[in-house]
Amino acid sequence: MEDRFILSQEAIQEKVKEIARQIERDYEGKEVVFVGVLKGAFIFLADLVRNIEKVDVLIDFIKVSSYGASTETSGVVRLDFDTTMNLEGRHVILVEDILDTGLTLRYLKELLEKKNPLSLRIAVLLDKFERRKVQIEADYVGFRVPDKFLVGYGLDYAERYRNIPYVMELKE
Ligand code: IMP
Ligand code: MG
Repeated sequence: MEDRFILSQEAIQEKVKEIARQIERDYEGKEVVFVGVLKGAFIFLADLVRNIEKVDVLIDFIKVSSYGASTETSGVVRLDFDTTMNLEGRHVILVEDILDTGLTLRYLKELLEKKNPLSLRIAVLLDKFERRKVQIEADYVGFRVPDKFLVGYGLDYAERYRNIPYVMELKE
């Protein structure tokens, strides 16, 4: 049998519910703007907010690119489009699929902080912690994952595989 890293649909759904419960505990009765980082976070964000009832949920998006059609980060983050909602004085949670070198989230955190939110936290489904190049941590983490190239559940390789309902290691 080939051994390929996989996170099952069931494991992901269970973890997403756990993160939703943590967020409900931390923000119960408050209003929170969830800012999804496109494109990768769209599925995680959709599942996450559908598990949240005790918080007033608002949704916005931001889009960046860094990778191109490669499995290695270029290190340069480009802002494709910014948020459209006024974030000033609001609780904001930035929602991202995976924290890898940290360059993307560091860039986004600095960008959103300039909009003067009341608070700013980061939620990621996956944390490829061994690969960090800049010091940044997420406040909500689904799974710490090994240094393998992963696809599915929003994550792509050259825009493919985002629709796979679980996460798997991509091998040649
Ligand atoms: P960072 O800036 O290196 O932290 O990279 C973050 C971005 O790189 C994520 O938003 C993903 O789009 C992409 N990325 C990092 N690792 C993977 C992976 O294993 N599979 C697919 N995309 C990844
Ligand atoms: Mg990507």
